[in-house]
Amino acid sequence: MDGGMVIVGAGECGARAALALREHGYDGPVTLVGDEPHLPYERPPLSKDAMMADTPAVQAIASEAELADKSITHLRPVTVASVDRAAKRVKLAKGGELAYDRLLLATGATPRRLPMPGLGARCVYLRTFSDVLAIRQHLKPQSRIVIVGGGFIGLELAAAARRLGAAVTVVEAQPRILMRGVPTEIAAVVHAAHEAHGAEIVCGSGIAAIDDDGQKVRLTLANGRVIDADLAVIGIGAVPNTGLAEQAGLRIENGIAVDAMLRSSDPDIFAAGDCCSFPLSVYGGRRVRLEAWRNAQDQGALAGANMLGLDLPVSSVPWFWSDQYELTMQIAGLCDEAETAVRRDISENAFILFHLAGDGRLVAASGIGPDNAVARDIRLAEMLIAKRARPDPDALASPDIKLKKLLAG
Ligand code: FAD
Ligand code: NAI
Repeated sequence: MDGGMVIVGAGECGARAALALREHGYDGPVTLVGDEPHLPYERPPLSKDAMMADTPAVQAIASEAELADKSITHLRPVTVASVDRAAKRVKLAKGGELAYDRLLLATGATPRRLPMPGLGARCVYLRTFSDVLAIRQHLKPQSRIVIVGGGFIGLELAAAARRLGAAVTVVEAQPRILMRGVPTEIAAVVHAAHEAHGAEIVCGSGIAAIDDDGQKVRLTLANGRVIDADLAVIGIGAVPNTGLAEQAGLRIENGIAVDAMLRSSDPDIFAAGDCCSFPLSVYGGRRVRLEAWRNAQDQGALAGANMLGLDLPVSSVPWFWSDQYELTMQIAGLCDEAETAVRRDISENAFILFHLAGDGRLVAASGIGPDNAVARDIRLAEMLIAKRARPDPDALASPDIKLKKLLAG
């Protein structure tokens, strides 16, 4: 090996992979190439604490000193323009090339663009720390923001904006918020919390027109209602960054298609995190693409190990959380695999839904409550899902029966 390890994308996944290469004892060159100007940083705070801070700051995954100490070369802001698989080199947009023995594509995802005319400087997206700086200046009392999309970005941002005193309207095209992977009962609690905190949520309406003059933005909804705002933030989903992989002729299937070891259709190229789709063993090898922090972190670590030939398969259960106001939602597993659900009340204002497949197997658990009220039980449910357990629904529903006992059984 002489080219060493090259990682494209210095987000959660890429940074974890670089660190994992060193943790596994690799002592050749490790180059992390990222097109953002910052150290690798955590994205979840962008719609939460960082957005609400008086002076927003990045929360670095690794410091300059740690990267130097581990001899990880971090090129930034540097964009990889193309991959030459035959020569095993990547081309940089600013000129120059890097040779690789093994390559990891950890290119993440990009906000889906709203496909209509009229967008200008007052219509923005939220994915990066630079986006936070652009949005933050408009989140103050007397300002009015409109958010297109009642998904995770839209709702977490709405909560932050309300905390900072801005007037907020969220416009969601579907009949309810959080249609992607969140059960109706939990979405209803989130919806009520937003209303209680003074955010307006309009469901079942698309956008008919946008008029942005660079100072103000006017949204006309499909039902004719007009909303004037200082800023429109668009959060209508994310698309995987597959451009490099496509150009290199790698197999694409709702993201860069990789096997259980995160290897792409080229054995020397791996892909991980938001940009890839992979077979999930706990659901019989169903191919999924996840857009969640822990998945990016775990897959980064796994990709680092597998670039060194450790051949460790992905085995984790999907898990994510969302914080809005005083509430935390957590979901383990894939709710869409379920046929029925049973409810367990944890306390007066916290509950968990256990989602069961037709054969009685626990396939997901979703919970909501203040702070960490559901965290422990969701963690135990995750272990039950990993075990492919078929717990008794009555026992799941009963708060008197400890989940730990079901796990032991
Ligand atoms: P990314 O974080 O997208 O990193 C990819 C990096 O690669 C980016 O910096 C990108 O610019 C760079 N890149 C792409 N192409 C190139 C190229 N050609 N050359 C060089 N660099 C390139 N998940 C949760 O579970 N809970 C949460 O509460 C939560 N909150 C979130 C809040 C926000 C605002 C956002 C945006 C996401 C949130 N997520 C959350 C999702 C989570 O952050 C992502 O799943 C995770 O960041 C994905 O990591 P990644 O490394 O795969 O991709
Ligand atoms: P999303 O897929 O969660 O939600 C998008 C929402 O926009 C959906 O409810 C959809 O119905 C709606 N929508 C689509 N087109 C629309 C239109 N034309 N008009 C009105 N509504 C429309 O995606 P979101 O919220 O943009 O998040 C982007 C990425 O950030 C995802 O990868 C997400 O996982 C990640 N993220 C995750 C968080 C978490 O897990 N807590 C928090 C913040 C972001």
